[in-house]
Amino acid sequence: MQFTKYIRGRSLLVLIFALPLMLAAADYDGELSLETVADLGARLFHDRNLSNSRKQSCATCHGPDQGFVDRRDNGGAVGQAVSLGDDGHSLGDRNAPSLSYVGFVPAFHRRDDGAYVGGLFWDGRASVLEDQAAKPILDPAEMAMSGMQAVLERLKENPDYLEAFPRFFGDDVLDDSETAYAAVTQAIAAFERSSFFEPFDSRYDRFLRGEVTLNGQEEEGRRLFFDSARTNCSLCHMLRDAPGGQGETFTDYRYHNVGVPVNVAVRKANDSLDTHADLGLLAHADVSEPSEAGKVKVPSLRNVAVTGPYMHNGVFRDLRTAVLFYNRYLSTDPQSGIDPETGKPWGEAEFTHNLSPELEAGTALDDREVDALVAFLKTLTDSRFEQLLPENGER
Ligand code: HEC
Ligand code: HEC
Repeated sequence: MQFTKYIRGRSLLVLIFALPLMLAAADYDGELSLETVADLGARLFHDRNLSNSRKQSCATCHGPDQGFVDRRDNGGAVGQAVSLGDDGHSLGDRNAPSLSYVGFVPAFHRRDDGAYVGGLFWDGRASVLEDQAAKPILDPAEMAMSGMQAVLERLKENPDYLEAFPRFFGDDVLDDSETAYAAVTQAIAAFERSSFFEPFDSRYDRFLRGEVTLNGQEEEGRRLFFDSARTNCSLCHMLRDAPGGQGETFTDYRYHNVGVPVNVAVRKANDSLDTHADLGLLAHADVSEPSEAGKVKVPSLRNVAVTGPYMHNGVFRDLRTAVLFYNRYLSTDPQSGIDPETGKPWGEAEFTHNLSPELEAGTALDDREVDALVAFLKTLTDSRFEQLLPENGER
């Protein structure tokens, strides 16, 4: 039975059986038996001993019971916008994305039409999950381990690892730090590709399967979202060819600059307001066209209602602000130029020469329609995160 929770199965039957196990894993207590590579990955994902101070694990910034984001208060005006590193003072410049449905992200590549697609991080600089998992452990501003040898020594402290690594990766795997490190990244990636990250059991999924009905407002939001004559959302936040189908991840994994304001509070906290610009996709080693500056990967909207703050720099606190933001490109109402969180005009974006033309498709939304879109986005919350929805109490 232990095994079912990591089966990539999508059938309802598997989900029903796996759900109690998923809940158990969400409150992970280190007792999970290591029957599969994904089980080992789950253990590593939660293992604080993989950080220099032994205080931080992947789960610190991507809490499996927190919508896979960082819900710590990282200080003052910064709040939950960016993450505090293992050293207790380094702050990042970007918001930790949710890892929900991350197994669907394609490897970084360029399509025949020239568009960049896929890859991990907001700028796609890690091609696949294995490459990505190798970064935070050694990143001085994150888990801050000094090198692969130091990681290997930490692994060897754990009798469960001494038994499981050779069983899954061959007798010699812990003889060499590079081989051991590669195995760590493979195990974590296997965990991230498991059904634990992609249960497809939100109210929206249940609606598609005919198990629940959406209320009037949610239904209006659903229609608006997929109606490309009215809104532009589905031009970027849709993977499948046909709107409204099962298995939708709500991103096409392409890169766009939508003109998100600089997060001034974060830059001030980092003392980098005048010195740093986030080049986005242009920072990727294989990308050199200035037209890619400031573009980031379109995020999935699954679980978005519980994974704020929003955008690559966490500049918006509320989901409603993130939706309302798009109206500035379509509405002539002077109010659409005001950020409701600051009461002032929307802050300046880092780059404005390459805003996506899709932003001007569709028509302006009125307040009721914005609320309907927000209500629809809330239906994309997986069952085990529904308790985190603001109306259900937690925040
Ligand atoms: C200190 C907080 C922190 C820790 C610890 C951390 N991450 Fe992250 N993670 C982030 C941030 C911030 C980003 C976005 C960074 C960027 O885009 O440059 C990110 C991005 C990611 C992404 C990319 C998601 C996507 O859709 O592109 C994955 C996958 C990921 N982290 C997995 C992990 C794993 C696995 C670990 C442990 C080995 C880990 N993270 C540890 C903060 C953290
Ligand atoms: C041109 C492509 C494009 C269009 C059109 C678009 N989005 Fe986005 N969306 C993005 C990108 C790219 C981001 C991340 C931007 C950033 O962080 O700089 C994003 C971010 C978001 C976020 C924040 C997600 C998070 O986890 O931080 C929400 C919510 C969102 N979009 C909803 C919508 C809705 C609703 C619509 C339609 C009204 C829409 N988007 C239209 C590309 C698009």
